[in-house]
Amino acid sequence: MRAEAARVIAAVVGRGASLSTVLPPALAAVAPAERGLLQQLCYGSLRFGLRYRAVLGELMSRPLKARDVDLEALLWVGLHQIDALGMPPHAVVHATVGACRLLGKDWARGLVNGVLRNVLRDSAVLDPERMSDVQARHAHPDWLITQIRHDWPAHWEAILAANNRQAPMTLRVNARHMDRAAYAARLRDDGLESHPAPHTETGLILASPVAVDQLPGFQQGWVSVQDSAAQLAAPLLDAAPGMRVLDACAAPGGKTAHLLERTTDLDLVALDIDSARLQRVQDTLSRLGLTAEIRCADLSMPETWHDGRPFDRILLDAPCSATGVIRRHPDIKLLRRPADITNLAGRQQALLETTWNLLAPDGVLLYATCAVLRAENEAVLSAFLAGHPEAVVEPLVTTWGHLAGAGRQNLPGEDEADGFFYARLRRVSLHR
Ligand SMILES: C[S@@+](CC[C@H](N)C(=O)[O-])C[C@H]1O[C@@H](n2cnc3c(N)ncnc32)[C@H](O)[C@@H]1O
Repeated sequence: MRAEAARVIAAVVGRGASLSTVLPPALAAVAPAERGLLQQLCYGSLRFGLRYRAVLGELMSRPLKARDVDLEALLWVGLHQIDALGMPPHAVVHATVGACRLLGKDWARGLVNGVLRNVLRDSAVLDPERMSDVQARHAHPDWLITQIRHDWPAHWEAILAANNRQAPMTLRVNARHMDRAAYAARLRDDGLESHPAPHTETGLILASPVAVDQLPGFQQGWVSVQDSAAQLAAPLLDAAPGMRVLDACAAPGGKTAHLLERTTDLDLVALDIDSARLQRVQDTLSRLGLTAEIRCADLSMPETWHDGRPFDRILLDAPCSATGVIRRHPDIKLLRRPADITNLAGRQQALLETTWNLLAPDGVLLYATCAVLRAENEAVLSAFLAGHPEAVVEPLVTTWGHLAGAGRQNLPGEDEADGFFYARLRRVSLHR
């Protein structure tokens, strides 16, 4: 189990693989009873990896070589068991040292044994309050701390703390089947406690996460798993029956499904460039008994896919740094680089320009990201608005989050939701 976790973490740290790519096959390869622990070890070790790296730097006389990234990962796993999982010390040492052999690195047994015993003798070395290095204390890369602090001077510490907490499991009840109260009662019948997700129409937050097959009616499409901030998109887009709607970056399809559940008779095009991810849109819609026109295409080349008919509503849930969902994807801390933000802002700007041209007169475009950085959100909007007098901002009249330029920003953990940015633009006629 520790060796499997180390391999998954090493793939993220060493090869830049995403956790959502490497964890599922690793989970499938272990016994069902072991999956929960493997998941906890991978998520927790990546969440606090930069802190553990600093602790190891203090404890080891020489750094590990690049080819021993799997050993560093194994040491993170060992430290996480001591730090956050409260496992019996002898079991931690025994299992973690034993994993060296499975990694083909028997020579490192003494090293791993020595490091873990040192930490067990003085576990205060893991106490973030005693760490002067900000990267170690907050368990985020320096550049990202600096950026978040710059963008959210009054909230940066709360954002980093929320990123380091496990997110709740939030459900979206399919309004076509039953209302939220009725589904909450069904959950209670099965011994599952929940409460309404603030600011959502049909969201429920579970008191404790469960496997989806334990959710009543999951296979029959009564419910889906979706964070409550993501559940704000469909009501904000506010499509009416019969409208032609473009979900411009649709995969894996959570918001597509919500749009269709919420409004009947939509003529909806769900487009994405990634065919594998689009298959997940199809799977979700099939489970929910919904239909849309699913298109695999590059949004930025409408001449390759667009038939010329404008859309009444467009949801542009743009590719972004995902810095608002770090609590669900802790690998982001290790995968993102500072240059990514500038590149993403350029792509977001270009996609916004392209999609705007597809919008019908009086149509509405909802721009969304799961990022917290202003460069990807309000700066993209203000640059766009400067060149488009026919684009009018419709203020979001709501109490969630914070006013952020032309839109609103929910910060991670606020109202138990992920970090999300939304801005709503209407195309008006400039001719009198
Ligand atoms: C934030 S995700 C969308 C999440 C989705 N709306 C949901 O709620 O499940 C961004 C998506 O944009 C897609 N994407 C990125 N560049 C694109 C392009 N040029 N054309 C179409 N899709 C693109 C990615 O493949 C990715 O699936």
